[in-house]
Amino acid sequence: MCGIIGCFSQNNCYEKLFSALRKLEYRGYDSAGIAMLAEGEGGGKISVRKKKGGAEGLAGAPMAGETGIGHTRWATHGAPSDANAHPHVAGKFALVHNGIVENYSRLKAELAAAGEVFSSETDSEVIVKLIARAYAGDFFAAVSSACARLSGSYAIAVLCEDFPGEIVCARYKSPLVAGAGGGALYVCSDIPTLCGEAEYICTAADGEFIRICGGEIHFLDAAGREIPKTFSRVPPESRAQEKGRGSYMEREIAEIPRALADTLAGLKKTDFARCARVLRGAKRAFAVACGTAYHAALAFKDAAESDCGIPVLCHTSSEFRYRAPLVGEGDLVVAVSQSGETADTLEAARLAKGRGAYVLAVTNVAQSSLASLAHFTVAMRAGPEIAVAATKSYNCQLLCLYYIAAQMHFYKFTRMPPWFSSLFELPGAARAAFDCFPTMRSLAEALTDKRSMYFLGRDADVVTAMEGALKVKEIAYIFAEGYAAGELKHGTLALVEEGFPVLAVSTLSRLTQKTENALQEVKSRGAFTILLSQSAEVLAESCAACKCRLPDVCERLMPVVAVIPLQYFACRMCLERGYNPDKPRNLAKSVTVE
Ligand code: G6P
Repeated sequence: MCGIIGCFSQNNCYEKLFSALRKLEYRGYDSAGIAMLAEGEGGGKISVRKKKGGAEGLAGAPMAGETGIGHTRWATHGAPSDANAHPHVAGKFALVHNGIVENYSRLKAELAAAGEVFSSETDSEVIVKLIARAYAGDFFAAVSSACARLSGSYAIAVLCEDFPGEIVCARYKSPLVAGAGGGALYVCSDIPTLCGEAEYICTAADGEFIRICGGEIHFLDAAGREIPKTFSRVPPESRAQEKGRGSYMEREIAEIPRALADTLAGLKKTDFARCARVLRGAKRAFAVACGTAYHAALAFKDAAESDCGIPVLCHTSSEFRYRAPLVGEGDLVVAVSQSGETADTLEAARLAKGRGAYVLAVTNVAQSSLASLAHFTVAMRAGPEIAVAATKSYNCQLLCLYYIAAQMHFYKFTRMPPWFSSLFELPGAARAAFDCFPTMRSLAEALTDKRSMYFLGRDADVVTAMEGALKVKEIAYIFAEGYAAGELKHGTLALVEEGFPVLAVSTLSRLTQKTENALQEVKSRGAFTILLSQSAEVLAESCAACKCRLPDVCERLMPVVAVIPLQYFACRMCLERGYNPDKPRNLAKSVTVE
């Protein structure tokens, strides 16, 4: 969360910073700011423009300077406001920060006792104050010594008026990459933002510093010793085309078939033999992830347990890392993360690796921190996903995880599972799921004013129900619960009253009658019932008031397509209610803090 950018250019770098901030908004958009350092007589002069709201609020006359830093904020400490927006300034320094300084209250008290006056409620201002106090003429040494006092996570970029043309940056547990191209040098929170700007990039590791000075990029350790690094070419396809018609979310849903086809093409080329020993030998597996990716992990559990006979313990990453999981040597840990930068998932993977487990990452960003940490990476090829609520990346995560389950099956039983060939039908089936959209659109119109709803399913359909409910909560701001239909009578049913919407997903032939029973039960209590199934017969016999026919693929893989109408439904609900699906309140795309 929060995006940072730093830039040095022979010419004015304001436009470069501004356009980077627009791209970084997916990481937070409650405030934005730029600090520029212009070379002048006897040093430089820092000017700052910062504001509550999105990056567009910074538009105006270009600010002067060859060197600059910028920030898009997702508030952690202190409400979104002009004062809490970055950059923060102290003495000759300006700083932008992504991360959380966990010992900030102690440091703030110490600085306040020493007479420092704070102009924001942020943890970040503490860092720039520390730097200013540590400064005795050596810019790098001041940043390094301030960082030594921090605990938590940070990626920072700092300007100093005594050093025009220079940016000092540090990274610890928040992403930071350096880039060069087009006569400019950059530091940034992510690679996609640099695409189209930089030609070469190099990622900083935890504990490393980046110093841009004299028109060069240096990687340094805390003592200022040079760390040899190799730059690589910016990956060709790392950014979506500029925004076209409609929201990013609508366009990303429309891209699902292509994303699945691209991911399949990549999977076919992936050399799973490299992890055959683990896939064959693992007595059990863990799956760790957050949010939507966690739902994909639950679907993996279904497949790996039912088809491969391997128990899979699924945890949200934030729980896994603090509950002393019984993970160890010989275990397979599948870490799922679209961005590959989610702080909790990274920590969960690190913990597992530290205990001797084998970490297999499923991520959409090949050069992400998760991919570099993992023993083996399975790449989704969903293409960049900008809307905060994950859609196409979820379908691709499911595809990758089913593919991995198929490989486990292969290495265990020397044959692919019976549904393996159906994986290749998924792009077509996903496109066919678009036929459900008119029904979902009318449904969203009809339910616009509802305050809550249930999504029900059984077995693998529970996962789809949970994901549908999450989407509705995230972007339409309606309370929604994704629930196992069999659990209804154990509490949930109490809330059902006249007109309460209950949507059931029923794709598993052995359980369709059970799900129908649940619909009958809620209908008898006045619920407005909706049923999604691929079976014409099941739909015909159902009591549901609204019915929607899903395309047919083999049952194991139905979650990949059954969720598509729900993703679209949530998007329509959001639009009907007058909200922006791309930027839900309080949320950010990449959660790089705990
Ligand atoms: C955030 C996003 C979700 C996403 C989750 C996990 O909460 O808003 O859409 O599912 O992070 O992100 P990851 O990048 O790890 O898949």
